[in-house]
Amino acid sequence: MERVRLAAREQPGRTERDTDMRGFLPLALVVGVLAAVSVAAGGPAAAPNGITPIHGYQDWKVIAPSYRPDKDHIRLIYGNDVAARAMESGTRPFPDGTVLVKVAWSTRKNPSFPAAVEPGKFAQVEFMIKDGKKYAATGGWGFARFLGPELKPYGDAPTFVQECFGCHLPVKDNDFVFTSLARSPR
Ligand code: HEC
Repeated sequence: MERVRLAAREQPGRTERDTDMRGFLPLALVVGVLAAVSVAAGGPAAAPNGITPIHGYQDWKVIAPSYRPDKDHIRLIYGNDVAARAMESGTRPFPDGTVLVKVAWSTRKNPSFPAAVEPGKFAQVEFMIKDGKKYAATGGWGFARFLGPELKPYGDAPTFVQECFGCHLPVKDNDFVFTSLARSPR
């Protein structure tokens, strides 16, 4: 409800009383209203499995960079505190509450030193959210991908996660996670 109230406050013409009425509606309807309010307020749309982009991950710990020559993408993998602790200690499976984020940019030559390659345009951001019960069918991970600066949700149906999960299967023994902590002397 708190989120509905906050969103309602940002919408002229909507009163808190209107919003409170929704508390009596069935849960499914409330979820629908939330999504509608979020879109109406200009918020990014949810992926087909209901996951919305997570904000503020830029302040999280960097786990490692990576580079895909075939896609010519530079990536940065971030983890929240739960993820960072599990990476540091090698805890597997990752605990519920772990969130891993992979951000990808196209590449460009540094204008002042063309031999150096650096991130160019933002390409996409991906999330893996650990909740053993909720996402039991996909190894306990909720997957979502958002494309381009407008963060367009990837996938036409909730089954899109099979593509993600399928490619992450080879690292089942590492709880379906490819990336390991890039260490450097402290
Ligand atoms: C074709 C194989 C493939 C597919 C499909 C794929 N991934 Fe990955 N993913 C990888 C590889 C390989 C990495 C390791 C880092 C890298 O490649 O930059 C990775 C890394 C990640 C990471 C960082 C954590 C980790 O495992 O290293 C996230 C988050 C992620 N992928 C999300 C997704 C989501 C969401 C989807 C589906 C929309 C998806 N992936 C589909 C291959 C894949």
